[in-house]
Amino acid sequence: MSAEHPEIPWHVAIIMDGNGRWAKERGLPRRDGHRAGAESVREVADTCIELGIRYLTLYAFSSENWNRPPAEVEALMGLLDRFLIEKGADMKKRGIRLQTIGRTDLLPDKTRALIERITAETAGHAALTLVLALSYGAREEIVGAARSLAADAAAGRITPDDIDCRLFESRLQTAGLPDPDLLIRTSGEMRISNFLLWQISYAEIVIVRKNWPDFRRNDFIEAVREYQQRHRRFGAL
Ligand code: FPP
Repeated sequence: MSAEHPEIPWHVAIIMDGNGRWAKERGLPRRDGHRAGAESVREVADTCIELGIRYLTLYAFSSENWNRPPAEVEALMGLLDRFLIEKGADMKKRGIRLQTIGRTDLLPDKTRALIERITAETAGHAALTLVLALSYGAREEIVGAARSLAADAAAGRITPDDIDCRLFESRLQTAGLPDPDLLIRTSGEMRISNFLLWQISYAEIVIVRKNWPDFRRNDFIEAVREYQQRHRRFGAL
């Protein structure tokens, strides 16, 4: 692939959608859709390493997802714990660094402890940075950045004129991460759903009709191919 289409995206972000529909189509409970979706997560992360993609950000749990029935929230947290326990060991072997964005302070204690441990243990890894967006909402993130700058201005540490894009970005939860080059959304929906609103300003967007549990290695490679066929202009001619 790389010889014909040299530009591999540096950072891919994914809105994993359609787990519920996948389950419904099969007459299964929604949690089975999420379980099958967790398999897609494993496969896509492995494919990133195979392709040399350096950053993968996954919208695993939005701030709005807390409004789902408690049993579904519990099932999602259980899958996340299982993923972290199983993949945690593999991450150490394969050089994957774990990071999170979002209100992880709101997650169950067990999940938070797993995240903290694996994040610390994998901090020096470089092959792939896997960023899990958990209890994440982009508007809240942007408000947090504005609040932090306002506090600095009120305390006289900065003046309003000091605020530019670079300073603003440094207060986002993604500080230090490159912006996504490619944003994929599955299940055919054409919405951003409060995901990385600032960071996707120049991302190429690829909408895939398949539900997330059906989105596997070849579908991911196909989406990367579509990205490679686009001509990115960043607003210039
Ligand atoms: C959207 O499907 C998906 C989610 C709300 C969560 C994504 C979670 C996983 C893939 C599993 C666990 C995560 C990890 C990182 C192991 P939906 O329920 O909104 O589907 P629908 O729109 O068809 O109802």
